[in-house]
Amino acid sequence: MDEKLDLFYNRRSVRKYADRPVSDQQIEQLLKAAMAAPTAMNLKPWEFVVVRDADQLEKLRKISPFSNINAPCAIVVCGNLGVFKRPLMERFWVQDCSAATENLLLAATAFGLGSLWCGLYPIKGMIKSVSQHLELPGSVIPLALVFVGYGAEEKPARTQYDANKIFRERYSDKW
Ligand SMILES: Cc1cc2nc3c(=O)[nH]c(=O)nc-3n(C[C@H](O)[C@H](O)[C@H](O)COP(=O)(O)O)c2cc1C
Repeated sequence: MDEKLDLFYNRRSVRKYADRPVSDQQIEQLLKAAMAAPTAMNLKPWEFVVVRDADQLEKLRKISPFSNINAPCAIVVCGNLGVFKRPLMERFWVQDCSAATENLLLAATAFGLGSLWCGLYPIKGMIKSVSQHLELPGSVIPLALVFVGYGAEEKPARTQYDANKIFRERYSDKW
């Protein structure tokens, strides 16, 4: 594997965290990377709610059985559909905010932090609960719940490269 790409292979879903806080400065670095992602028409529909308060974290942990994670910080990546001034412009907001989410995870990895992407959108019940807990206005839709912190578990670097998923010129020709 090319070591230039180590960052990508080192990013793994971390589900156990140390009881060690994440600072404002660290969070700002992560969000600078998140907001370096590409967006359709450069409309940047993303917004981020940073949660470190114990009660707020507890509410987010209860959103689903798959989000019961003991991290000291959660960042909820949202799309603000209010930025779209013409019909159909909002069609790419999920991709825009997903690109930002992946940048956030990679930045966390670069700083030696663990991270976990928990899906919210398009599950209606989770969107409703998170919107209520975070008091989001109706035009702001939560896409992803990202946990961040110092990891308390080690996972090996890896790709899941599979040549069977690649085709040359047309689907009938395998790579
Ligand atoms: C859209 C999306 C939703 C996910 N939701 C959850 C989740 O709710 N809980 C969880 O523990 N992991 C969740 N994951 C993490 C995946 O389980 C994980 O990325 C996958 O198993 C591959 O492992 P890796 O991230 O270590 O490479 C989600 C990942 C994505 C991209």
